[in-house]
Amino acid sequence: MVIHSADFIKSSGKWQECPEATLPEYAFIGRSNVGKSSLINAMMGRKNLAKTSQTPGKTQLINHFLVNENWYLTDLPGYGYAKVSKSNRKEFAKLITNYILNRQNLVNLFVLVDSRHAPQQIDLDFMQWCGESGIPFSLIFTKTDKLTAGKLQENIKHYQDVLLQNWEILPEMYFTSAEKRTGTENILDFIQATNEYLIKNKVKFL
Ligand code: GTP
Ligand code: MG
Repeated sequence: MVIHSADFIKSSGKWQECPEATLPEYAFIGRSNVGKSSLINAMMGRKNLAKTSQTPGKTQLINHFLVNENWYLTDLPGYGYAKVSKSNRKEFAKLITNYILNRQNLVNLFVLVDSRHAPQQIDLDFMQWCGESGIPFSLIFTKTDKLTAGKLQENIKHYQDVLLQNWEILPEMYFTSAEKRTGTENILDFIQATNEYLIKNKVKFL
């Protein structure tokens, strides 16, 4: 997919404040600092469209970006950031789950995990919850520039083995580096194919 335009539309503190749900929407979610905002910038070929930070907990609202004037890309706050208070974490969790369960035009979630780490319980629990709630998702491995090709293969194999303990089929998987801008085209191709399917089948959200 060629990106002709990518515009920040708004930040919302709850799902009711999000832009009108008329266009297909794809959202990035995952632990704080996993690289959601950086990957959005890499996909859009822009440096500072989504705000990134070395300090976890940068994105605290639901951020909507309109791409090619016909679909939304959404940057969600990270979950599981230990340094925010328990009540704040609960608020974030509520914001995220309410958004996911109520957003009518949400077509697919992308769950981002750091390719350097073994599967984290919080991510596995989140994917489990998606499955139980009937929310379609794909898995994106981030920061692949930070490890060797061999170690990456090993980590992916291990991740798949762990998933297969609970899932009969594996989700779609993408392997990315925002730093090197690799793996982004596959994600954009998936979004394009899905958008074309929705148009062909005259899917309306509202
Ligand atoms: P929150 O908004 O806090 O939830 O974080 P986030 O998931 O949006 O992470 P963000 O994109 O802000 O990136 C966190 C840190 O990881 C930043 O210092 C980025 O520069 C770094 N980073 C993100 N993606 C990559 C990558 O592909 N490679 C490398 N080497 N660093 C990355
Ligand atoms: Mg962010």
